[in-house]
Amino acid sequence: MQVKNAYDRLGLMAIGEIVASVLTDLSAFAQPGITTAQLDDMAGRLLHTQGAEATPRKEYGFPGRLCISVNDEVVHGIPGERVLREGDLIKLDLTADKRGYVADATRMVLLDTPDEIAVRLADTARRACEAAIARAVPGMLLADLGRVIQDVAGADGFRVVKELCGHGVGRRTHEAPEVPNYADHSNLGVLREGMVIAIEPILSAGNGLVRRLEDGWTFATADGALAGHYEETVIIGADGAEVATTRRL
Ligand code: CO
Repeated sequence: MQVKNAYDRLGLMAIGEIVASVLTDLSAFAQPGITTAQLDDMAGRLLHTQGAEATPRKEYGFPGRLCISVNDEVVHGIPGERVLREGDLIKLDLTADKRGYVADATRMVLLDTPDEIAVRLADTARRACEAAIARAVPGMLLADLGRVIQDVAGADGFRVVKELCGHGVGRRTHEAPEVPNYADHSNLGVLREGMVIAIEPILSAGNGLVRRLEDGWTFATADGALAGHYEETVIIGADGAEVATTRRL
């Protein structure tokens, strides 16, 4: 969507803060021995008490409130009876709406004691996201924004998953434009003031290829390598990007 006035901005900031705070609470709750369904139930309760609702279920029929992808699972993992274990790298991806505004963010949780590569991958995904946010200004080509992410990943020896990308957001879960995580020159999009986008580096410690699992939703790395994913919803302002999915209290 395009932010046109202060009301739009406040609506996005409000749902952004809720998404960020729910993810923070879920991150603290995640520990070995609990199931991903328990995390999903908690997400439902936390959203409900704040007047918000998960959007992927409403819009796509996704069987859960948030996507929980573990280790080699990349995105769209379905919450269920899977029990979290020591050393797991967990990606919590939450999209929710309130009063017609939608925000989308992803956080990673590392359960003790993670492999050194998982620690590095999680750190790189977060820094790639921050680097892209720091560079995003009106007039920038989306391909150049993707190059920022690709460069941070590559410098640390990781590959971006080219098949998956960020996207416009704000009124629905996925809107135009596609926001690539590499210098995709087939993408002719340009950042505009007021544009709302989800910037989400999706990285692999392996060859960067993915496959879809039999459940019809989950993407996993084709080679079984670990995947990292970090995401923020931002508003492109005249002087740079403003992060909506953050806690301000
Ligand atoms: Co997203």
